[in-house]
Amino acid sequence: MTAPLRQIEPIQVPVALGARAYDIVIGRGLIASLGERIKTLRPGARVAIVSDETVAQLHSGAVEAALKSAGIDCARIVVPAGEGSKNYATFEKVCEAIIDARVERNDLVVALGGGVIGDLAGFAASCVRRGLDFVQVPTTLLAQVDSSVGGKTGINSRRGKNLIGAFHQPVLVIADTALLDTLPKRDFRAGYAEVAKYGLLGDAAFFAWLEKNWQDVFAGGSAREHAIAVCCRAKADIVARDERETGERALLNLGHTFGHALEAGCGFSDRLLHGEAVSLGMALAFEFSAQKGLLTSAEAARATAHLAAVGLPTHVKDVRGGVPSVDILMDLIAQDKKVKRGTLTFILVRAIGRAFIENNVSADEVRSFLDHKVAGA
Ligand SMILES: NC(=O)c1ccc[n+]([C@@H]2O[C@H](COP(=O)([O-])OP(=O)(O)OC[C@H]3O[C@@H](n4cnc5c(N)ncnc54)[C@H](O)[C@@H]3O)[C@@H](O)[C@H]2O)c1
Ligand SMILES: [Zn+2]
Repeated sequence: MTAPLRQIEPIQVPVALGARAYDIVIGRGLIASLGERIKTLRPGARVAIVSDETVAQLHSGAVEAALKSAGIDCARIVVPAGEGSKNYATFEKVCEAIIDARVERNDLVVALGGGVIGDLAGFAASCVRRGLDFVQVPTTLLAQVDSSVGGKTGINSRRGKNLIGAFHQPVLVIADTALLDTLPKRDFRAGYAEVAKYGLLGDAAFFAWLEKNWQDVFAGGSAREHAIAVCCRAKADIVARDERETGERALLNLGHTFGHALEAGCGFSDRLLHGEAVSLGMALAFEFSAQKGLLTSAEAARATAHLAAVGLPTHVKDVRGGVPSVDILMDLIAQDKKVKRGTLTFILVRAIGRAFIENNVSADEVRSFLDHKVAGA
């Protein structure tokens, strides 16, 4: 795989879901064409743009100008930035605002923001008038490569993340890679963990390409669009085969079982962002797989070395303020993945690019692995 020349034409990635099929369009500066694209897709539609305060301040002007120049009427609904907005109160506010904006069955909701806005606005769209169509305009790297594709939407319950939600596919995803230029470096890097994940779980050639080209992905060169397109293609393929996660889609959870436990153990705070937890979780999944004799430690070390090279955490000692006790982590893992007679389901690896679902991992083995890791911190 070689680095592409500067991409001028947008890259189009189809998500083949029959009657619910849609395109992901990826390119620098795409926002300017949003109005024309929406007009072609849904002539005469009104639009409600849902965004958070930070993104609205930076980018809603350009989005509204693009819609206006295509003659599209739009309303703006703004919620506070951050995970806290994925709650019942904000969900109610967004639903009522969509109704107030007179957005009806043939109109569109536009989710302009990161994964929080995509999940919240997508879920509101799935409920108002028993289902409105919506367009994802993801503005974080995580949202461009992961959360905007695949139709999982929802909010958090007091008892856990994403427990209230629906599968509701967007009708279009517009990933304008220039929007990422304003993203804080730490958020960009955290999103990059999900980019590396696609290489680590199923595409060794892409991982090798990332090892060579990651700087250009960060810098916003043509490698950025290429990397996002590879990730979207991988996710689109998996989602087309297993939309509701009855099997293969679970591979996308590589690093997430350890990761979610660490993230929850740090109170979902900025001590450890989701992508950072996933990076550490993937490093642990590779080391755990090596310990089980599934791959060589040199191969596991290669996976970990790349994550560390971009500045992502790969060791429990990298977590500011330390990680919770192994007892707490094991409780959190058990909550995240149901324990069946002392066994857990994990995504393990046989090599870089060869992840698989293992339903029979002994909880004791995980505990002793974590004991060793946490003691060594
Ligand atoms: N639906 C799915 O399949 C799926 C998959 C993965 C994650 N998620 C969800 O995604 C959420 C995390 O998403 P996220 O990491 O994008 O978080 P986020 O939406 O909270 O965005 C992170 C921060 O970046 C700011 N921001 C966004 N775009 C910006 C830009 N272009 N410039 C400057 N600042 C910008 C936001 O205001 C926010 O403060 C979680 O709630 C998670 O559960 C969903
Ligand atoms: Zn994730």
